[in-house]
Parts: sequence; C-alpha cells; structure tokens
Amino acid sequence: MQITNYIDRNKQKFLAQLKELLRYQSVSAQESHRADVRACARCLVGHLQELGAEAELVETKGHPIVRARIGKSGGRRIIIYGHYDVQPVEPLNAWESVPFEPVERDGYLYARGATDDKGQLFAHIKAVETLVKSGAGLENEILFLLEGEEECGGRSLEEYIKANKNELGSYAVIVSDSTLYGEGGAIGYGLRGTVGWEVIIKGPARDLHSGSFGGAVANPAIVLANIIAKCIDENGNVLVPGFYDDVNAIEKWEEENLERLEFNETGLREKAGVKKLLGSEKVHPLVKMWARPTFEVNGIYGGYMGQGGKTIIPSFAGAKFSARIVPSQQPKKMADLILEHIRRVCPDNVEMEVIGPGWSEPVLFDTGHEVFKAAERALEAGFGKKPVYIREGGSIPVVSTFWKELGCPVLLMGFGEDTDGAHSPNERFKVDHFYKAIKTSAVLLSSI
Ligand code: BES
Ligand code: MN
Ligand code: MN
Repeated sequence: MQITNYIDRNKQKFLAQLKELLRYQSVSAQESHRADVRACARCLVGHLQELGAEAELVETKGHPIVRARIGKSGGRRIIIYGHYDVQPVEPLNAWESVPFEPVERDGYLYARGATDDKGQLFAHIKAVETLVKSGAGLENEILFLLEGEEECGGRSLEEYIKANKNELGSYAVIVSDSTLYGEGGAIGYGLRGTVGWEVIIKGPARDLHSGSFGGAVANPAIVLANIIAKCIDENGNVLVPGFYDDVNAIEKWEEENLERLEFNETGLREKAGVKKLLGSEKVHPLVKMWARPTFEVNGIYGGYMGQGGKTIIPSFAGAKFSARIVPSQQPKKMADLILEHIRRVCPDNVEMEVIGPGWSEPVLFDTGHEVFKAAERALEAGFGKKPVYIREGGSIPVVSTFWKELGCPVLLMGFGEDTDGAHSPNERFKVDHFYKAIKTSAVLLSSI
C-alpha cells in the first residue's frame, strides 16, 4: 500500500526526472559524445546520492561505471545492472521528434535511450526511492552497477567484476535491459551471444573506368557479394561448415512453454514491417529468434552511391557482420570457424582485410532459484498478470560475467516492448510500463 501510494503521488516527478536523464547525449560509440556520457553518469550519481546512497564514478580506460550502495549491510545483497549509454541516433531524418528532446505521444515517451536502457534502469532507482521515502523500508543491500559501454562493446565493467569478485558476492543480479512479452511481464532465462567483425575487400589501387578495365580486373563489390552468398543462402541457412554443430535443440519443457505463449505470426510480420518471414515454416519463429544462431550483414559499403550513374570498378568494398550464437556454442570457436571460411572462399585476385572479431557469450539459466519465484510474484503485483518465461534473441555481454564470476543467479526482467524501437529511429518507452516497472522492482526488492 505504501509502495503504491508513493508511486501514485510521484508519477509526474518520476517522469520529469526520466526526461531529464534522456536529455544527456550519452552515445558511447562516438568520441564526440565522450563528455556527454560522463555528464550522464554524474547525473545518475546525483540521483543516487540524493536517496542516501554511497555513490561514485569508477574510472575506467573507457567510460565510467556508476557504482552505488544503499540499504542494510546485514541484508541480502542484490546487484542491479543497467547501462546508461545509448546507440547513435542516425539516420536523423527518420525521427519524428528530436532524439534527445523527450516528448510524450500516445502514452509513450519518445527519446533515444528511453527503453534501452535509461527508462528501465531508472525504474529501479525510483523503486529504491519508493522504499526509502515511503516508509516501506529497505531491508536489503542494493548495489547499483551501471555501465557506459554496453552499446560500444567496452569491457570495463567485465574487468571491474573480475578484479573485485570477492567483494561482489551477491544473492542475485537483476538486469532490466530487455522486453516484456505481450501484455504482461516476462522472466528471461536465456540470451544469445554475438560474434562481430568487418571485412574490407581491396581491389584496384584506385577506382577504375569499368569500360577500360572491366572484364580483366575483379570488382571488390562483387567479390564481397559472392563471399556473402557463400556464407548464407536465401532461406537464412548458414553455409559455414560446422556452423550448427554445437546447437542444442530446445528442451521438452521449453517446447511446452512455447506452445503456451501467445504468439501470432501476423503480429510478428506487422511489427517487423515485412510481408513474409524468413526460413522454414516448420521452425517456430520464436525458436529462430531465441534458440538458433544467425548470420547477418549489418552494413555494406563501397563504390559510387551519389546521384546518377558512374561506370567504375570501385577500389574497395566492405561490410560489417555479426552472428548471433546460442547457448552451447563457444564464441571463440564460432569466430574462428566463420573467419576461416571467409578466408577460404575469398578469391586471390583481391586483398582481404578483417577487422575483429569481437564476441560476447550466450547464457541459459536454470530458473530453480527462489529469486525467480519472488520475481513472478513481483511482476504479478506490478502488471496484474502472471509473468511468462522467455528466452531472448538479443545479447547483454556482461551477463555471462556476472553469472560466471559471482556464481549467483541473474534475473532478466525486461520492461521494454519489442515495438519500442531500440537501436532504431523514434525509440520510445511506454509511460505506464515505467510506473509498473517501478512497482515491480519495489515489491521485488522488499520481498527478497
Ligand atoms: N538491451 C540490448 C539487448 C537486448 C535487446 C536483449 C532485446 C534482449 C532483447 C542491448 O543494449 C544490446 O543492444 N546489446 C547488443 C550487444 C552487442 C553489441 C554485443 C546486441 O544485442 O546487439
Ligand atoms: Mn540495452
Ligand atoms: Mn542496445
């Protein structure tokens, strides 16, 4: 009751503060925003200190970590992870409002970082405020670890956890950086990992007249397209030898769970904005997105893209790639396998440069620990509906580090929607979910 009352009385203030947080242009991948990333971290330290937390910036080789402790040292320690950095906003002309000037429209708050991940992490900070200031009380010790490098592949928090693992032992880690499922809450028990790399095919020393040289000199853009075609076919089947060797089928309980989840294919097509989905109709789309590995081209460049035509053989062409890997596949092994194949299929009339690879680990959790039961109750209190169990297709690199180094359960409790436009133009977060997330977190943190 105290929790609900406090949240109800403070909704406007909470939202105004979230808007303020969303104004920081904390794009970690872009050097020009370095100072903005730091300013955003300081803003969070300020919010946490205001609640009485011991909060500080932990300096790293990259962007700072926000670390804050609050609550009773004798209680159970719960780590709350989030990331305050955001994705670049480009292409700007696809936004209906300015990315760093948050606005409300149709019950959503629009801004870069609204759902990924400022809105979600701020809900936990406001939940702690609710417990501290409503009189409900905070019996546990909460340790916030908020990083500024999730979106740019930084490893600083991973290094910090490894270096301080003896002091970080905890009852559980809570991560809200993913999505709900349908109308109600969801508990995530699996994430895919990633392998990422870039390939540059270098041909002639400079762009050449395609009439004078065409036919005798290999075109790097075509070489690149052929390499890609030797990696994946039109049905999404990856052609890299061994790519699927270590993939495990989903377990029996997961199959039954999938059947119980509300899912409609039309909805998925509409959300994605495509007329037809990819791959065999015999495989459930959720299995494709959660439990099967993929191979993607994220961007492709080279040659003339200006107005009109230009008959050339471009001197180079390149592409950025990423693969999603699933639990039971090893990132290093997969990276080696893929790059060996790419090197093998590249013809010898061009040069190939490879940047990377980098990778992150997939995770799959056993949901037997009591924290999952507590989360079920809290999500039901927050969203008025029993939560479902899901895997997710996205990746949160540091999750495997928490899990392996600290040996405690990690609870993936996302509050976003898959239509929120994370990484896309017009990113948003449902205002009502923000309040529901605050309640869920407050109930959970006071019931552990
Ligand atoms: N919050 C996402 C990850 C996510 C998205 C998990 C949707 C579950 C559902 C995170 O910020 C992210 O974008 N991660 C990157 C990591 C990559 C760059 C290593 C990703 O998944 O692409
Ligand atoms: Mn995120
Ligand atoms: Mn993201």
